[in-house]
This record gives sequence, structure tokens and C-alpha cells, in this order.
Amino acid sequence: MTTAIRVRTPKEIRSNRRSRRHRCWGHLVAAPLWPMHGVNLGTLLRTCDAVGACLAVPPFGWVDEALARGNTLRQPACVHRVSNPLRWLAEERAGGSRILGVELADEAVRLADLPSARKRTVMVLGHESTGIPPEALDLLDGAVEIPMVGTGMSLNVAVAGSLVLYKLAGLI
Ligand SMILES: C[S@@+](CC[C@H](N)C(=O)[O-])C[C@H]1O[C@@H](n2cnc3c(N)ncnc32)[C@H](O)[C@@H]1O
Repeated sequence: MTTAIRVRTPKEIRSNRRSRRHRCWGHLVAAPLWPMHGVNLGTLLRTCDAVGACLAVPPFGWVDEALARGNTLRQPACVHRVSNPLRWLAEERAGGSRILGVELADEAVRLADLPSARKRTVMVLGHESTGIPPEALDLLDGAVEIPMVGTGMSLNVAVAGSLVLYKLAGLI
């Protein structure tokens, strides 16, 4: 016997959503600090809204334009500008945040084994072609890797960041 699936109407979905955007909770921060493609920032901004995270990006004009272009939300997630990524990561760490790299790394835990974030966590994403810079790797408390079985070297950075954000938020 099969179960009939009824897709919820936009009105029903809307009634389960917040009427206002998340405040800056500061619990989860997605940090694509060395972005190359604006389209990925728009995607990450949307995931940040979905899970209640903030987005940390460099203060470049093209980044603002990309976020404005990619923003399909009436009330986008909160965005922090980080002009010196290494200094900011060191300060966050000194202030007690956990700095978690999303990267294909020997020491990384697999996504399935990553617990949800119990304290403020900064999720660091790498540059689309060169990954997380070596100087920033030294500032990580740990790393998480999303297993792959295909022929591709890596996932799109916004896909990788979105999967890890959902796990950190405890929503999957
Ligand atoms: C396209 S990948 C970078 C490629 C690769 N690291 C390199 O240096 O050639 C961009 C970023 O996406 C994230 N990423 C992509 N696939 C991933 C995976 N399977 N596990 C963890 N992170 C991944 C990482 O943050 C990575 O730095």
C-alpha cells in the first residue's frame, strides 16, 4: 500500500515560518571568507536564513552586489563584514568560538559524525579553486569533510556549506 503525499500549500508553509528574520543569534556563523563566485554567496545567505545562522564575508563591493542579487528573501539573514580574515578568526578563537573548517583534510571528521553545535561555531569555507589558505588552517579547531563517491574532486562550496550548516544546526 502506498501513502499519498500531499504537498503543503504556500499558505501552510508560510504559517510555519517566522514573520521576522532571525536576530543576530551569534551561535552559528558561516564564513566564506575568500569567495570567488557571487552566486555561491546568495545560496549560502539563503541557507543561513533557513537555519538561523549569520554570514561573514569580506567587505568588497562585488560581494555586496552579489548578495543583493542573490537575495530572494524579503528579510535576508544577518551579514557581518570581515576585512582581515586571519585576525578575525584568531579573535573569535580567543573569545571562545569553535573554528570549524569545511575541507577535504586528513584530520577531518565525516559529516555524519559531526555533532550539532553546542557553542558558538564559526564554519570556515575555502576558496572555490584553492580551498582554505594554509595560514587559516592553523587557526582551525577541527575540520569536517563530506564524503564523496563520484569522480568529482569536490562539491560546490555553497552545497558543502549548506550541508554542514544543517548538521551544525541540528536540523538533519
Ligand atoms: C571547490 S572546493 C575547493 C577545492 C579544493 N579544496 C582545492 O584546493 O582544489 C571549495 C570549498 O568547498 C568546500 N568543499 C567542497 N567539497 C567538500 C567536501 N567534500 N568536504 C568538505 N568540504 C568541501 C571546502 O570548503 C572547499 O575549500
